[in-house]
Amino acid sequence: MRATITSVAHYVPPTVLDNAYFAKYLDTTDEWILTRTGISERRIAKEGATSDLIVPAAKECIEKRGITANDIDCIIVATVTPDHSFPATAALVQHKIGANNAWGFDLSAACSGFLFSFITACKLVESGAAKRLLLCGGDKMSSITDYEDRSQAMLFGDAGAAVLIEPSDDPDCGLIDYIAKIDGSGAPYLKMIAGGSAKPSSLETVQNKEHYLKQDGQTVFKAAVKAMADCSVDIMKRNNLENKDVAWLVPHQANMRIIVATAERMQLPKEQVMININKYGNTTAATIPMCLSEWNAAGKIKKADNVIMSSFGAGYTYGSVLLRWNANK
Ligand code: UT7
Repeated sequence: MRATITSVAHYVPPTVLDNAYFAKYLDTTDEWILTRTGISERRIAKEGATSDLIVPAAKECIEKRGITANDIDCIIVATVTPDHSFPATAALVQHKIGANNAWGFDLSAACSGFLFSFITACKLVESGAAKRLLLCGGDKMSSITDYEDRSQAMLFGDAGAAVLIEPSDDPDCGLIDYIAKIDGSGAPYLKMIAGGSAKPSSLETVQNKEHYLKQDGQTVFKAAVKAMADCSVDIMKRNNLENKDVAWLVPHQANMRIIVATAERMQLPKEQVMININKYGNTTAATIPMCLSEWNAAGKIKKADNVIMSSFGAGYTYGSVLLRWNANK
């Protein structure tokens, strides 16, 4: 038995920050941001926490499937900006949507959070340990972005998304294969320095801006291009897929140039790549499910389409997943 996505939804907050907003107070331009990243605008949550971005998506996802929150037996939240260190954001989402029969937990894998929790969710469903699993990916990146730093201020956005994972009613569809890797040698290049047990919060850590994310952009960029392209090409090869057999690449949306380089290595035309970074920036755990949600709503993903999802993030964490699309009846 295979596990598959049977419903998908997303939510973005209404406030839009366009590139002109940053050009007003930082030494940057719309042209630099657009050509170096592919981003035109991003959404920012003026109030609320990550769970408040996830809950509207979760409710819509459940409603679209024609079930109730009480039918959910497990909730996983992928996030790097949990509402609190503890309790888990999954517990807060469970309570807010009234999923009274669920257990659940948070999964921390930064920009690969959705990919890693998708694999985890499918394995729980394949084993019978869960039957209707609500998998949420959401991040309030504005809560950890330094808006005075031009090397990061314009990269990120806030969003929440949710997918329902259930047994597939077609044995040929669902999760087919995955490659997932974690490599802590990359930890220094993308991290939050303070606030954890290695460096607890103090007046000094706040003054030193150590509660914002820190990134060595060029190092991460090079590692991301290689990892996403290698994993995506490998998963094609070992499943005997040529470019004509792949319907969609769904890449993590961190930088348009990383997306284009990955697609080129797979020899996929841009028309077969889900790209919405221009509208939302990098929303970390929400990027891949948001693409799936938008493309599914537009009727562009067909049953039995081979969909390759690929991501790279802090850790490093990275990988690619082959999903044969089936939304069930
Ligand atoms: O999602 C998790 C994984 N994260 C990623 O995948 C992010 C990967 N990295 C990137 O996307 C890119 O490295 C960035 C978008 C962060 C930066 O782009 P870049 O092409 O690597 O720029 P750079 O850091 O090499 O900087 C090039 C130049 C520098 O000036 P000089 O030294 O050549 O004079 C920077 O100071 O661009 C300058 N610069 C800017 N100029 C205008 C850096 N940021 C800006 C800016 N506006 N916002």
